[in-house]
Amino acid sequence: MRRGLVIFLIINALIIVFLVRSVFTLLTLLVEDGSADAIHSAEIPPPNSPRIDDRPQLIPKIIHQTYVNDTVPERWREAQKSCVDLHEDYEYKLWTDAKSRELIATEYPWFLSTFDNYSQPIQRADAIRYFVLSHYGGIYIDLDDGCNRRLDPLLSYPAWVRRTNPTGISNDAMGSVPHHPFFTLVIESLIPYNRNWKLPYITVMYSTGPLFLSVIWQEYKRGRPSSTIAGSSVLGGRKCTRLGWQCSGESKDTDGGRI
Ligand SMILES: *[C@@H]1O[C@H](CO)[C@@H](O)[C@H](O)[C@H]1NC(C)=O
Ligand SMILES: *[C@@H]1O[C@H](CO)[C@@H](O)[C@H](O)[C@H]1NC(C)=O
Repeated sequence: MRRGLVIFLIINALIIVFLVRSVFTLLTLLVEDGSADAIHSAEIPPPNSPRIDDRPQLIPKIIHQTYVNDTVPERWREAQKSCVDLHEDYEYKLWTDAKSRELIATEYPWFLSTFDNYSQPIQRADAIRYFVLSHYGGIYIDLDDGCNRRLDPLLSYPAWVRRTNPTGISNDAMGSVPHHPFFTLVIESLIPYNRNWKLPYITVMYSTGPLFLSVIWQEYKRGRPSSTIAGSSVLGGRKCTRLGWQCSGESKDTDGGRI
């Protein structure tokens, strides 16, 4: 009887250890506020500052956005135009479904069956943004976000993402040099994380969406001492508002936001 109890307890303990291990990265997100990696407002020169020209521009001047086809709906055209008009010297790439699939088919054929097989179109829209950032570099911005100042100051970091409250990072605006190791890890993690969690919302969040990206961000940082963290800088939501980047997702009553 005693022996049975001990075995029962050991098995339970093993199950708990296994569960904690498998959700460990998720748990670390609870205590992660990203402050160690934050780009501080003092670091970012104000608009039109000569300091912008002093700093090395690492990220190529490319803006990436995604939509089903070339016919962007009326309600997003103004936001789209605000980014295009402010950045005449940037290349602008609108990734339609057809162009997205073509890029995956020609450059990343190992991913094509997964890409085609995603049950939700938003999973393809999430995945393609990681691939284009890894492939070309540049800045990805959600189509419903707009720009109210130039993105130049953000070109001086090898890669950046936006922090979300209370924890984690978002995939609605991101910048990177081509082949940054963070985005390499992100695209390599898409297949292992492609699991069906039955609930579509959870499946999307954790296979390709912000929760997936946050977990990969944690994994990426784990293998690196903090001295190399500049490669994964996080732009704090509140800080970018103060500088004139009014970030989306901060206010529930607006559809999008401005970067
Ligand atoms: C573009 O996609 C939208 C949304 O799916 C659709 O309503 C529209 O007809 C498409 N336009 C063209 C030209 O295919
Ligand atoms: C595609 O999805 C089906 C069912 O959702 C699954 O059985 C199959 O293994 C998937 N194929 C690939 C290549 O992911």
